Amino acid sequence: MSGIDGINGIDGKVVAITGAGSGIGEATALLLAERGARVVLGGRRVERLAEVVERIEKAGGVAVSVRTDVTRRDDLHALVALARERFGRLDVLFSNAGVGTISPLDDLRVDEWDEMVDVNVKGLLHGIGAALPVFRAQGSGHFVTTASTAAFRVVPNMAVYAGTKVAVRAICEGLRQEAGDSVRVTTVSPGVIATDFAEASTNSQVRAHITEMRDRLAIPADAIARAVAFAVEQPAGVDVNEIVVRPTAQA
Ligand SMILES: NC(=O)c1ccc[n+]([C@@H]2O[C@H](COP(=O)([O-])OP(=O)(O)OC[C@H]3O[C@@H](n4cnc5c(N)ncnc54)[C@H](OP(=O)(O)O)[C@@H]3O)[C@@H](O)[C@H]2O)c1
Repeated sequence: MSGIDGINGIDGKVVAITGAGSGIGEATALLLAERGARVVLGGRRVERLAEVVERIEKAGGVAVSVRTDVTRRDDLHALVALARERFGRLDVLFSNAGVGTISPLDDLRVDEWDEMVDVNVKGLLHGIGAALPVFRAQGSGHFVTTASTAAFRVVPNMAVYAGTKVAVRAICEGLRQEAGDSVRVTTVSPGVIATDFAEASTNSQVRAHITEMRDRLAIPADAIARAVAFAVEQPAGVDVNEIVVRPTAQA
């Protein structure tokens, strides 16, 4: 480790990641740790987090984890506190946790609407609330957030999900404008990615359609991890604001 000005722009940085036990969060944790970041992993499934920590440690990297439910404000404070306790600072918060229980509005799956708002939107706000004062006190920091191509293109069954991701982009753009010259803000919008995400829908017809599309089109989660790494590795004065990464074959 060579400190936060490490040779590759990632080496030595302290990066907290939500939704780190699977999919995009897991792939990003593995890639950033491989490049020398010290990663602090959050999610609800602690056994998944422990597996990722073990893989990183076996490969010679540094990782810790804590059970984090992003719908709980205190859990985000605990995630940020763990980074500071163990590594003395927080350089990047990757707010990646998200749920996509997509369905037509006529299904009235109102608890799932609530969950999407609570995780995708309020979860992001809880992270900003916990990390922003720390970034201000340090005089540096970087918010990286997972939105979606659904934030750019609304399609049937995705009204609520797309609404949350439009909100994510709006909040991050507002944050960027208020952030000043020392805090960076990056929004990463994936298209169809090969994760378990597509299986979340409780409407069997929608789930079959989405999983078929994933199996036909999806690109690996590592494609998003590399996009996150690209934003993180830039010099402090360079803020990569928006990255959209989708399969070449995705319309
Ligand atoms: N896969 C795609 O095609 C795609 C496309 C565009 C955008 N995205 C976005 O990418 C992000 C990651 O999804 P993924 O594709 O990697 O799927 P995934 O493997 O299902 O990852 C979602 C992660 O979110 C975490 N999560 C859910 N609710 C949470 C909560 N209340 N508190 C903390 N963590 C929570 C889950 O961990 P626990 O269950 O352990 O808490 C899980 O690790 C999401 O924001 C999603 O909207 C995905």
